[in-house]
Amino acid sequence: MSDTAVAQPPETKKDPSRQMSDAARATSDLIVSPDVYAHMDQLDAAFSRLRAEDPVAWCEPEAFRPFWAVTKHADIMEVSRQNKLFTNGEREMLSYESAEERVYAQTGGPHLLKTLVQLDDPMHYKLRHLTQDWFMPHKVKTREDAIRTIAKEFVDRMEDMGGECDFQQDIALYYPLRIIMQILGVPVDDEPMMLKLTQEIFGAQDPDLMRDKSLSEQGDADKGLSSIQETLAQFFMYFTNITQDRRDNPKDDVSTVIANGTVDGEPIGQLEAMSYYIIVAAAGHDTTSASTGGGVLGMLNNPAQLKKMMDDPKGMSRTAVDEAIRWTTPVKHFMRTAQDDYELRGRKILKGESLLLCYPSGNRDEDVFNDPFEFRVDRSPNKIISFGHGGHMCLGMHLARLEMQAIYEELFSRVKSIELAGEPSFIRANFVGGPKSIPVRYKF
Ligand code: HEM
Repeated sequence: MSDTAVAQPPETKKDPSRQMSDAARATSDLIVSPDVYAHMDQLDAAFSRLRAEDPVAWCEPEAFRPFWAVTKHADIMEVSRQNKLFTNGEREMLSYESAEERVYAQTGGPHLLKTLVQLDDPMHYKLRHLTQDWFMPHKVKTREDAIRTIAKEFVDRMEDMGGECDFQQDIALYYPLRIIMQILGVPVDDEPMMLKLTQEIFGAQDPDLMRDKSLSEQGDADKGLSSIQETLAQFFMYFTNITQDRRDNPKDDVSTVIANGTVDGEPIGQLEAMSYYIIVAAAGHDTTSASTGGGVLGMLNNPAQLKKMMDDPKGMSRTAVDEAIRWTTPVKHFMRTAQDDYELRGRKILKGESLLLCYPSGNRDEDVFNDPFEFRVDRSPNKIISFGHGGHMCLGMHLARLEMQAIYEELFSRVKSIELAGEPSFIRANFVGGPKSIPVRYKF
């Protein structure tokens, strides 16, 4: 690239006759707003209207490049399973247009990292393959005792707190972190630092979680980007040391697999390795802590469901976990870019246009779920779309389910009563989020 030519995000070429529908005009700014994700009723109303009136909706929200909002469960599946036609590489998640321009200007491309969710096959497949075995049910099962031991420690901690705590802040936030740190093989002492770093990446729009608290969510793109870059630099420093250590002293952990990973006979690059640690560390806990807390909140708000769970924690835990993951839908979206023209539910998507896969909407789709706005611990079948679908489908889903089952069984077989002790609050983030605070009162 010459000094004068600054790389730019691709122009979204647009059919000039295309107009936003009334439903899209009324909702497109809402469905990208981090604030609205802290108010599920508003978000549910926006998505319900889109599903009913314009399920594949052309959206041109303020400050973002346009996209098609895909809000029906079947359409999210249809797009997600066609990984050659709908790719991740160009635009895998929502980002302010100004921030995208800054990343392009700095890197010549759309990303600061090369994580699995930002890659397409064949590289995506080859990298995913490196650790895939670690997250398959047979391997996850071998960790069950260790996971149940950690679940017990956390419920002990709750009991020791003497009858009141913030379930999200004191329990749900740290429990999945402890497990993913163990799988990565990093010391317990580093947990607070890791928690802060991953929250800064995922919760970067929430003022309580930002590194630089002066930034509003629409804040200055330059400052926002340098704040994320500082966080990434800390991650890099930390995992560069881990890489060196695992090359010198291989262990039975995922860090050893990443540090010594090869693709086509060559060691994977520094950026690929760093990105891998980051996606496993970050995706491995915020999501699970959000749904662990979100499910408990679902029960506290629905005493009949709580009673069902407390009457039979072991029998109910499997279905309750999936319902918690549907109810919370911790990952709010991913995006794809069409590599060819394609017709979806009668709308003509053009090559180069992006699609927003709206998971919270798919999880409330009336065509798939009976009474989708009701929380039911025994919901079955429960065709949740929370883990995505197709070649990028969540690598950690078996682990997440087992973690949640373990803590729900431990908690609800021991606690005698539990209720809300204050107003819960929610994370402001349009990418990954859920409860921020769940004050509870309980007796063991
Ligand atoms: C990908 C959700 C827990 C690791 C994803 C995707 C979603 C998701 C929606 C993208 C799927 C797609 O594009 O089709 C969730 C939810 C979780 C959870 C809701 C908890 C309830 C975990 C855990 C790990 C993990 C515990 C631990 C390692 C990953 C990785 C990817 C991924 C590495 C990228 C996969 C790829 O692109 O090939 N997850 N996740 N996730 N998740 Fe999870």
